[in-house]
Amino acid sequence: MILTSLLALFASTALAQQAVQQTTTTYFGTWSSGSGNVLTGPGFANPANESFNYPPTTGISYSFTQDGFYETARYRFNSNGSMPNCISANLVWHHGTYQQQPNGSIVLTPFGDGFQQVQDPCAPVSNFVQNYNVTELLSTWAVTQDPILGSRLFLYQFDGTPWPPMLFMSATPNMLPTRSLRNISAPVVIAKRSTNDGDSVRLWGISGLVSSAVAAGLASLLL
Ligand SMILES: *[C@@H]1O[C@H](CO)[C@@H](O)[C@H](O)[C@H]1NC(C)=O
Ligand SMILES: *[C@@H]1O[C@H](CO)[C@@H](O)[C@H](O)[C@H]1NC(C)=O
Ligand SMILES: *[C@@H]1O[C@H](CO)[C@@H](O)[C@H](O)[C@H]1NC(C)=O
Ligand SMILES: *[C@@H]1O[C@H](CO)[C@@H](O)[C@H](O)[C@H]1NC(C)=O
Ligand SMILES: *[C@@H]1O[C@H](CO)[C@@H](O)[C@H](O)[C@H]1NC(C)=O
Repeated sequence: MILTSLLALFASTALAQQAVQQTTTTYFGTWSSGSGNVLTGPGFANPANESFNYPPTTGISYSFTQDGFYETARYRFNSNGSMPNCISANLVWHHGTYQQQPNGSIVLTPFGDGFQQVQDPCAPVSNFVQNYNVTELLSTWAVTQDPILGSRLFLYQFDGTPWPPMLFMSATPNMLPTRSLRNISAPVVIAKRSTNDGDSVRLWGISGLVSSAVAAGLASLLL
């Protein structure tokens, strides 16, 4: 009895070590920062109804296929220095194709069906969902090997700002289907507000949704 549970323990420890020490030298596969709770693929974004499943902790995730598709999932908090009590939450999901450039940078071109949710308790509209169709330049990337953590991917934004380092989660990319997954000419569904009135989800067009003030705030948030 004790022996079998010891053996089981040994086996699971060996398995765990094998799992964390997965290594690679390229960016192909699925990567996730921090505790690994934010992951591309099923479980983060639901494009059909423009909603997110909130992971237990913040983080970012990127996946790359060998044949030129990518997906990214990000859940972050942003604070505003001039209004320290106003911490906004931002969830972003987009996917599309990527091109590795001769200078080593990677250009991510979205399909156009990406979307984001912003929750800012201090903004005039405190919780909304909108389209997110921003071409992303990853100016450089690097994969390093850590004896305990395995491979880590470092991605740098267009201006050289690093994204948080990500651990290698799987060689087979964990991704939603690599094609447009929602009707982008339909109005975006606004997230249910955090009131208790039991209202169902309301439909708002983008133009009615984003006042110029909100748009300005959002622009600084997303840089
Ligand atoms: C959106 O779709 C997902 C997956 O079908 C479902 O789990 C979730 O409850 C839906 N969310 C809303 C707000 O309708
Ligand atoms: C912080 O909030 C103020 C007031 O809403 C706004 O004017 C300013 O642009 C914000 N700064 C950042 C970096 O978001
Ligand atoms: C690398 O190439 C991309 C795409 O052509 C370009 O946008 C970027 O500015 C270049 N980066 C550097 C450091 O030259
Ligand atoms: C997304 O952005 C690209 C590049 O700017 C553009 O060609 C495309 O039409 C956009 N798609 C949508 C649905 O707005
Ligand atoms: C997409 O949405 C538009 C506007 O609501 C609608 O006219 C069109 O039929 C929809 N297309 C599909 C394929 O559902």
